[in-house]
Amino acid sequence: KRIAVFASGSGSNFQAIVDAVNAGTLDADIRLLVCDQPSAAVLQRAQKAMIDSCCLSPKDFADKTAFEKEIVQQLRLRGIEFIVLAGYMRLIGSPILQEYPASIVNIHPSLLPAFPGKDAIGQAMNAGVQVTGLTIHYVDAGMDTGPIIAQTKVQIHANDSIVDVQKRIQQAEHICYPKVLQELFTKETTNAAP
Ligand code: GRF
Repeated sequence: KRIAVFASGSGSNFQAIVDAVNAGTLDADIRLLVCDQPSAAVLQRAQKAMIDSCCLSPKDFADKTAFEKEIVQQLRLRGIEFIVLAGYMRLIGSPILQEYPASIVNIHPSLLPAFPGKDAIGQAMNAGVQVTGLTIHYVDAGMDTGPIIAQTKVQIHANDSIVDVQKRIQQAEHICYPKVLQELFTKETTNAAP
């Protein structure tokens, strides 16, 4: 599969996906990184991995539709078949959703439907839960609302700081995301076979 990863930040999940492809455990062709933050560390990771990146700021466009239409153009140019969101801090709008129906996935650091949106880990800690986790789901127009593909539980211990929990969730994400993507891509290929 020719994929694009969308990210806005440090890109540790992007890195895990790149590493899995290089290790031969994920059968994907990462053709493009789409980033909306010129200072994001993920851009250096892409450069190091020699993956093409495209950094676009919504403020350079008339509106969100124009911004997303340009992204679609960039995806089309590279024959992208599937989109992987990895810490992309924006809702996906209709130009991208229409071009990629049922072909966009996201990873979120909670057991959805609990704690959607920003600061999912802070929300879980404030709620006092002892178990949180991560969710990999298809993307629709809502905020972290699409059909769930996989979830993994992560414990919150009594004296954990938010950073402790964040680290524990991210470690689990780096294992789960490439694995689930591989399962998805294999399943899709099998289903498409005559
Ligand atoms: C991840 O924890 C993911 O669950 C959330 O954003 C974070 C991105 O981290 N959607 P990174 O940029 O991959 O390090």
